[in-house]
Amino acid sequence: MSFLAERLARIKPSPTIAMTTRAASLRAEGRDIIGLSAGEPDFDTPPHIREAGKAAIDTGRTRYTPVDGTASLKQAICDKFARENGLDYTPAQITVASGGKQILFNALMATLDAGDEVIIPAPYWVSYPDMVLLAEGRPVIVECGIADGFRLTPQALEAAITPRTKWLILNSPSNPSGAGYDRAAMQALTDVLLRHPQVWVLADDIYEHLVFDDFAFVTPAQVEPRLKNRVLTMNGVSKAYAMTGWRIGYGGGPEPLIRAMGKLQSQSTSNACSISQYAAEAALNGPQDYIHDSRAVFQRRRDLVVAGLNACPFVRCPTPRGAFYVYPSIEAMIGRTTAGGTRIDNDEDFANALLDETGVAVVFGAAFGLSPHFRVSYAAADELLAEAVARIRTFCEGCT
Ligand SMILES: Cc1ncc(COP(=O)(O)O)c(C=O)c1O
Repeated sequence: MSFLAERLARIKPSPTIAMTTRAASLRAEGRDIIGLSAGEPDFDTPPHIREAGKAAIDTGRTRYTPVDGTASLKQAICDKFARENGLDYTPAQITVASGGKQILFNALMATLDAGDEVIIPAPYWVSYPDMVLLAEGRPVIVECGIADGFRLTPQALEAAITPRTKWLILNSPSNPSGAGYDRAAMQALTDVLLRHPQVWVLADDIYEHLVFDDFAFVTPAQVEPRLKNRVLTMNGVSKAYAMTGWRIGYGGGPEPLIRAMGKLQSQSTSNACSISQYAAEAALNGPQDYIHDSRAVFQRRRDLVVAGLNACPFVRCPTPRGAFYVYPSIEAMIGRTTAGGTRIDNDEDFANALLDETGVAVVFGAAFGLSPHFRVSYAAADELLAEAVARIRTFCEGCT
């Protein structure tokens, strides 16, 4: 009998964290590594938010808070949903946890019974399938290829739904593809969902503010109010305000679900860090200039990376609408051999050879459920991105 639980054998460690760790250990050995595998803004948290955190410490707001969030943060979240998304939630319909990740985890753990199905469009954020498996559910992966702009079509959604379907996870803009659903595309999906009352939607809106050009962000409960009583609208401060380490995520949804998630959290982590909650409140209630400034920086970097990658032989890089990732295809690279003598049979070979031969760390597409691709996070300085793209180009040009 194994000491470790069987449920742990069902899941794998996060491949993005594994790649970042591998890059860090090569760097520690003295190699010149450019890490483009991590998913976090490279900026510091804005000063007024940091000050709010310090003030929380200095004024003794360092004790337990209500399990699923302080009243004032919940109110700030209600105000945010009303202001930015046209969504009318009461504080009792809001839950706060240690990151958007915990919100997703709580929702799945609180609702899935063995064999319940969760539809996950691929490419997906690496944690979705493993969280479903931990909760004893069955991930139903629907591949959404480059030809569909990496987006779930209403036909594919309809075909994936069964009487056991409990959730659809929808992440727009997407990690890893950067694809986003505009109002028409979202409406096409919500129209399908209206016909299937057993299916709930987990809307992962964590990249809401990182949208480019004229793309207008929408969220399912906003597009189809008749669906609101079976949508959990998840968001957080990590990406919007460069607050990944503070660990604050939140969700808005029907009260029975919110209560169930709070019950689970009360027997696991209890409240998210009190200091971080006060800082998150300052982020949501305070000036929003940071969002606009960082959006402009990311759009410039996106353009730099897309143009650079499309100049590489055997690489095809669509232009994403949001987030800070690109997800190029390397279909034309499969079967070729690198200058260093490695045969590229799949996208994992590609990412490993790229790291070994050029020192650029990216994440292979299989980790996100759609191959042959790789993900580049362009949350890095322009000069580093330019150097990385130049190295990738040399690497590709060396392939025969
Ligand atoms: C798509 C997606 N959802 C959720 C999260 C979770 O973010 P956090 O737990 O920092 O709020 C991430 C972080 O990488 C993400 O990429």
